[in-house]
Amino acid sequence: MATFLIDLSPNDMQARLGDALAVYVDAMGYPRGTESQRAPMWLEHTRRVGWHAVAAVEVDSPADDQLGYQEELDTDTDTDAGDAPAPEQLAAAQLRGIAYGYRGAPDQWWQQQVQRGLRHCGLPYTEIDRLMSDYFELTELHIHPAAQGRGLGEALARRLLSDRVESRVLLSTPEMVGQPNRAWRLYRRLGFADIIRGYHFSGDPRAFAILGRALPL
Ligand SMILES: CC(C)(COP(=O)(O)OP(=O)(O)OC[C@H]1O[C@@H](n2cnc3c(N)ncnc32)[C@H](O)[C@@H]1OP(=O)(O)O)[C@@H](O)C(=O)NCCC(=O)NCCS
Repeated sequence: MATFLIDLSPNDMQARLGDALAVYVDAMGYPRGTESQRAPMWLEHTRRVGWHAVAAVEVDSPADDQLGYQEELDTDTDTDAGDAPAPEQLAAAQLRGIAYGYRGAPDQWWQQQVQRGLRHCGLPYTEIDRLMSDYFELTELHIHPAAQGRGLGEALARRLLSDRVESRVLLSTPEMVGQPNRAWRLYRRLGFADIIRGYHFSGDPRAFAILGRALPL
């Protein structure tokens, strides 16, 4: 198998929404059926300003027959046309990872929730405005469990965060329980720092951390 990172257009995301949501549900360990609840939201997100999505796909490699199982991560398919499979091969390839985000804006529920959390922490309004005025929200980042632990998540995050115009990136992730899990190890390795810890979004009993870092990565 050879693994390639590709950009998804809004139409690509619509076409591959079922695959992307299946990766998300398996990665997060959510119950089956979560996909249909999330689908309208993920589609609505494709229409937001600055939306960008990247995916990791696996393509059967001719060398598989000789070598049994071969892995290669090509993170630069745009410029390495010699090795890249044909677009139709990539479009049909199995999706193993998904990441997307968009530019934060005041009419978004997530921004309103984070602002509420920052006010609750006592952050001065000027500092809240500074933090929330120019950021990219890293909304989703998931690798199928069978493909985790070989650097794909980091590669997707780096590709998603390259060439952004915003001055920082923010995300929310479930709070760490005990030792840092793989998501936390990744975010710390990428230099994400605490913005809010132990935060409860409205209607969700779980605690979340809001993390952020300056861009470029
Ligand atoms: C969090 C998540 C996206 C990270 O993606 P990943 O591909 O599993 O992990 P990374 O890209 O960080 O890979 C790092 C691991 O791969 C290993 N690795 C192997 N080859 C590598 C390479 N070439 N480059 C980098 N790391 C490599 C590293 O040693 C490291 O292992 P470790 O975490 O056991 O120390 C993924 O594990 C996941 O989807 N988790 C469940 C869902 C989730 O938590 N999503 C995010 C929260 S909202």
